[in-house]
Amino acid sequence: MSNVHIVDHPLIAHKLTLIRDKTTGVKEFREAISELAMLLCYEATRDLPLKEIEIETPVAMTKSKVISGKKLAVVPILRAGIGMVDGILNLIPSAKVGHIGLYRDPVTTKPVEYYCKLPEDVSEREVIVLDPMLATGGSAIAAIQLLKDKGVEHIKMMNIIAAPEGTAAVTASHPDVEIYCAAMDERLNDHAYIVPGLGDAGDRLFGTK
Ligand code: PRP
Ligand code: URA
Repeated sequence: MSNVHIVDHPLIAHKLTLIRDKTTGVKEFREAISELAMLLCYEATRDLPLKEIEIETPVAMTKSKVISGKKLAVVPILRAGIGMVDGILNLIPSAKVGHIGLYRDPVTTKPVEYYCKLPEDVSEREVIVLDPMLATGGSAIAAIQLLKDKGVEHIKMMNIIAAPEGTAAVTASHPDVEIYCAAMDERLNDHAYIVPGLGDAGDRLFGTK
């Protein structure tokens, strides 16, 4: 799948071990999720366009590059996507932040929308959708469709752990969306949880179980 990028780096591998380990506490889990988002952001923004401007250093005039083109927005899928926002804003402090609230119905595993608040000019921005887990892909597909319905044309998806089933589903529904993830796990279990995964990302981030 050419639009799925699995970002391979020793720092990512190390932090993934931390978040997978069930003995890792809420504080360390939250920090590692934020750091992983920052590391993924580095790769997901590799193709941002640049333009040259003229500046003066203390020594001489010179031409130097700055980011140009469309402005960015990040859109976490609530709840767990919130854990990735700070990591991205550390690198791109001017990005606007929208929120899409979706939860998976525990019986059907289908996403249920309960909240949506996006920047007014979202259709003029490049959007990176954030969610640590891409399991069946239902939540990601619904969030991307919602953004497209609002006129957003350039969307990337950032996940920490993805399942083959979810990436295949997102790619089939939204072939224009590039997916950046830190790990592609083996499969889903009977409850549509990622194996080996890390369990319930929202519960581990917010300590709700
Ligand atoms: C989790 C996760 C994703 C979704 C992934 O959220 O954060 O949004 O499941 O599963 P899918 O690919 O099969 O749709 P959950 O529904 O548990 O909600 P929460 O973040 O509020 O706990
Ligand atoms: N949501 C999670 O939080 N974890 C999974 O493994 C699957 C969906």
